[in-house]
Amino acid sequence: MAGKLYVKTFGCQMNEYDTDKIHAVLGRSHGLEPVSEPEAADVLLLNTCSIREKAQEKVFSLLGRWKSLKEVRPDLVIGVGGCVASQEGEALRSRAPCVDLVFGPQTLHRLPQMLDAVRGEQRPVIDISFPLIEKFDCLPEPRAVGPSAYVSVMEGCSNKCTYCIVPLTRGDAASRPVVDIVAEVTSLTAQGVRELTLLGQNVNTYRGHDESGGIAELGALLARVAEQPGVERLRYLTSHPGALSRSLINRYAEIPQLVGHLHLPVQSGSDRVLKLMHRGYTAAGYLEKVARLREVRPGLTLSSDFIVGFPGETDDDFQLTLDLVDTVGFDASFSFMFSPRPGTPAASVPDDVPLEVKKARLAELQTRLGASAKAIADGLVGSMQRVLAERPARQGSGDLAGRTENNLVVNFPAPAELLGRFVDVRITAARPHSLRGELALPPLRVAVAS
Ligand code: SAH
Ligand code: SF4
Ligand code: F3S
Repeated sequence: MAGKLYVKTFGCQMNEYDTDKIHAVLGRSHGLEPVSEPEAADVLLLNTCSIREKAQEKVFSLLGRWKSLKEVRPDLVIGVGGCVASQEGEALRSRAPCVDLVFGPQTLHRLPQMLDAVRGEQRPVIDISFPLIEKFDCLPEPRAVGPSAYVSVMEGCSNKCTYCIVPLTRGDAASRPVVDIVAEVTSLTAQGVRELTLLGQNVNTYRGHDESGGIAELGALLARVAEQPGVERLRYLTSHPGALSRSLINRYAEIPQLVGHLHLPVQSGSDRVLKLMHRGYTAAGYLEKVARLREVRPGLTLSSDFIVGFPGETDDDFQLTLDLVDTVGFDASFSFMFSPRPGTPAASVPDDVPLEVKKARLAELQTRLGASAKAIADGLVGSMQRVLAERPARQGSGDLAGRTENNLVVNFPAPAELLGRFVDVRITAARPHSLRGELALPPLRVAVAS
């Protein structure tokens, strides 16, 4: 029976990648077609995130709403996947009994059988095991949507930062073999993809088998991907500063498609806090890597993630974070208040920074980060940027939207024929969350003889 599928996604790019695969898997097996409204669906899935408590709570409030849909239509199938599912397993059903199936980030390829079991045997099904990278072997050919695509190159993380739930929800690091990644890349470029972002929670620790029986590190993988025809721009996410090796930094001199922008989360500028977080580097070590990166690739911009109010963080520690922000001059970044996650080491010590202090620090950091990002954006006004025209701009203005090499969104008037192509855009204004620009060269029009 064909039907409609609605998937709501929370969390990181890896979850977005997984959601695409959920659509592909259930489209192939059951002919399920995507719909944009939950009311129109026969199967409702939630791909969840548990990185902070707020993210997790969103899941239960949404399930409350879906429960009322199911009261009217008992044949609806409701499923929960992703990191909350992985963390809660069976317990999720006791809090939300309307859930029929629970799957983990690494078992989404088994959804067809799970769906059959739910429908056929009228019983809930739970599978949150970690069958390593079996998932990737069971996925249909990738389908490109637009000229930019994600490719997950590994799962999990073995870096036990004391605040972080990811190693518990996604398991230890496991890398896909190089050939499989290259095959996915060439399939995407054949469909018009020009920009790729290789994904992993701690992608710098990628270590995948290569064809000669050796192990390729991320730098070698990037070089292999860059060799494929059609790969014009290459990014990777997320980098751990401790695992940013000298050889990877040197690749910035060798691989022209690697963008001059890196998301390199520092979390804190205080060595004491970094130690409590088990990050494995110091502020000076971080700054040294930044300097080396900028030596190899002049003008490289950086963005970061920050946590404020980590247990034991003092005003002095926080000041060191502000100082580091001033020293580096980050581009658009993310900052969060510490949120204790069950089962992590940092959750077992007192969450001793009062909420008002956390809020005040967050506000101050965000003001500082906003000013730093604005200075970078303002500095681009008048410059020429190479932009990949990715999609029509949101406002329905007839403009196109794309991103610069340093990942800033630019809206510019241009004909739809330029979608999927790189164009030179002169930046005319910097707005709070995007840039405005104009085509450097108006597209050639074929003169029609009259
Ligand atoms: N793997 C990446 C990102 C992990 S999650 C890395 O190692 O940097 C994205 C961001 O969420 C983290 O960088 C961190 O800033 C934030 N984060 C993770 N756990 C958190 C917690 N318990 N409380 C608040 N923020 C958290
Ligand atoms: Fe979490 Fe990133 Fe640390 Fe891994 S490296 S434990 S994903 S914060
Ligand atoms: Fe969230 Fe899981 Fe990603 S906890 S950030 S969805 S790895």
